[in-house]
Order: sequence, then C-alpha cells, then structure tokens
Amino acid sequence: MRPAPLPLAQRPTPIEPLDRLTDWLGGPRLLVKRDDQTGLALGGNKARKLEHLCAEALALGCDTLVTGGGPQSNHCRMTAAAANRLGLQCHLALAGEATGPPTGNLLLDHVLGAHLHPTGARSYYEIEASIEGVADHVRSTGRRPYAIPVGGASVTGALGYVDAARELAGQLTEPVDWIVVADGSGGTHAGLLAGLDGDTRILGVDVGTRPDLDQRVPELAEATAAATGRPAPGSEVAIDHTRFGAGYGKPTPECLEAIRVVARREGLLLDPVYTGKAMAGLIGWAREGRFTDRHSVLFWHTGGAPALFAGPFADWLTNGEG
Ligand SMILES: Cc1ncc(COP(=O)(O)O)c(C=O)c1O
Repeated sequence: MRPAPLPLAQRPTPIEPLDRLTDWLGGPRLLVKRDDQTGLALGGNKARKLEHLCAEALALGCDTLVTGGGPQSNHCRMTAAAANRLGLQCHLALAGEATGPPTGNLLLDHVLGAHLHPTGARSYYEIEASIEGVADHVRSTGRRPYAIPVGGASVTGALGYVDAARELAGQLTEPVDWIVVADGSGGTHAGLLAGLDGDTRILGVDVGTRPDLDQRVPELAEATAAATGRPAPGSEVAIDHTRFGAGYGKPTPECLEAIRVVARREGLLLDPVYTGKAMAGLIGWAREGRFTDRHSVLFWHTGGAPALFAGPFADWLTNGEG
C-alpha cells in the first residue's frame, strides 16, 4: 500500500484566462494553470511530486532527502524546502563546478541550508549517478537517505500529476482540446497522461534536459497508470523537440520573445529554462496553424521564475527586443 501524499502544496492552483495573449495570437483560446503558485519556497511543479516522494521517504523511515540537478534546479530548491518542512536533512548533487557568487535557485539552496555537493557532472546520466554517490556517502555517515531521481521523475513523483489531472477535471466546466507543458525529466507529462480522462491531448515541449523523452514519457505514463489501477493512456504521446535551441538552459530568441510577450500582455512571469520554451512552443504551434481559433489550449505553468535572477539571463532579457 502506498502512503497518502503529505500536504506540501497549495492546491487547487487557480486557472486563469489569457485573453490578451489570445487576442495577440489571433486564437486559440488560452488558459493558464498556475502551478507556479504551489508554494514551498516560491512554487513550481515539484511540490506536487514531493507530496508523494516525501510520504514514501517517511514511510521507509528515511531521515535525509538526496537529489540533484543543475545549479539552477527548481527541483533541488523545492526538495530542500520540503525537507525543512518535515525536519529532514537535504543533500543536493549539483552538476558542474561551484563558480562565482550564488544567484537564483542556488542562492535559495544556501538560504534553505541544504548540503551542497558540486560533482562536476556534465550530462543527465552523470547527475543521476552522482545522486547515488551522494546517497552512499550519506549512508556511510549513519543516516538513512531517500534518493530522488532528477526532476522527481519516478512513478511515485508522477503520482502528483495524476492528482493534478483530477484537480483540473473538477475545475473546468468543459474540457480543453490541448494542454501544453514543459518536458524536462518528463514526469509531469507522464503523470498527466496517466491521470487524464477524455479526449484532451497533451503537447510536451522538450527543453533539452534528457535525450530519451520519446521512450521515457510513455513508459513512465504506463507504469504510473498501472500503479493507480487506471487504464494505460491511449493517445499517441506528442513531444515537440524543435524548441530547445542550443540546449538546456540556453534560451532561444523565441523563448525570450515568449517571456516578454506574456509578461507585457498578461503580467505573468515565465522562466528562461522551462516555461519560456514551452510557451515558445505554444506560440509556434499557433503561428504554424496547428492550433487555430477553434482550439482551446491550457498552458500548464510549472514555475521556475527564480532562474530569471540568475547568471546571464538578466543580460539576455534586457538587451534587444528579441
Ligand atoms: C519550472 C519547471 N518546469 C518544468 C519542469 C519539467 O518538469 P518535468 O521534470 O516533470 O518534466 C521543471 C523541472 O524539471 C521545472 O523546474
């Protein structure tokens, strides 16, 4: 029996119309689901996953959360916050080398008091391996680590988005045609696929985190559905791999345009790593005629704004009009 999720997220998160963005685009009819408002040290999609992951950690008698990601990982920041809420320790395996003063999410990791392990890892798979390495180290000190994969993309984590799909169904008076969401580790997309009923399609926009989303998302969706006794997701999995430009964390002109347009039309902040690229995908699909004024599209805002205050993004966002 799986333990019940812990109450870590503010939910339900609101759904808001994006009428001024809809006008700018000339259709489709746009809505936004505000999972940037989940709380837990500035919000984001990981709060829902952590409700299930932390419940499992406590049920297993663990006293330390271990996870990892890039220095600007939202998942790391929110895992550190969840650990503090629950009185657990948190160790973070960080990709790359420690350089310069901390900004954005990394600054918040410091404020939250997480134990930081710069690992020099360069690829997705190296980070996964370094999480195991840090967990071994924690174990060798006599503590009981609970290792969470990058992005919380396990079946347990994805259960948070089965809950979210149910929440959405209770909020909408009529189903939307499409949901658009950023695909990093793929867990959010997989959980939504496992949890949604009806004909709503999901477009995942690959932000360049991992190379195997086409296999991983359907696999994880099927395993998550099986874990909840739900039928295997029926529809073909749609992932747009054309929007991440030079790679993870490297914004494209279209991403910078999306951030500015959404801020200036709707007063809504996106981020340069995930939601800016996902919105660039949505805008691209509208411009290419794949979303038309006959469609309703819900943009699933997954958070990430702390990265606006990090590294080179300030320069990119303030120079030129993109
Ligand atoms: C702000 C934000 N949006 C989207 C994602 C992607 O979610 P997932 O890893 O579930 O694909 C992440 C994390 O990776 C994130 O931090």
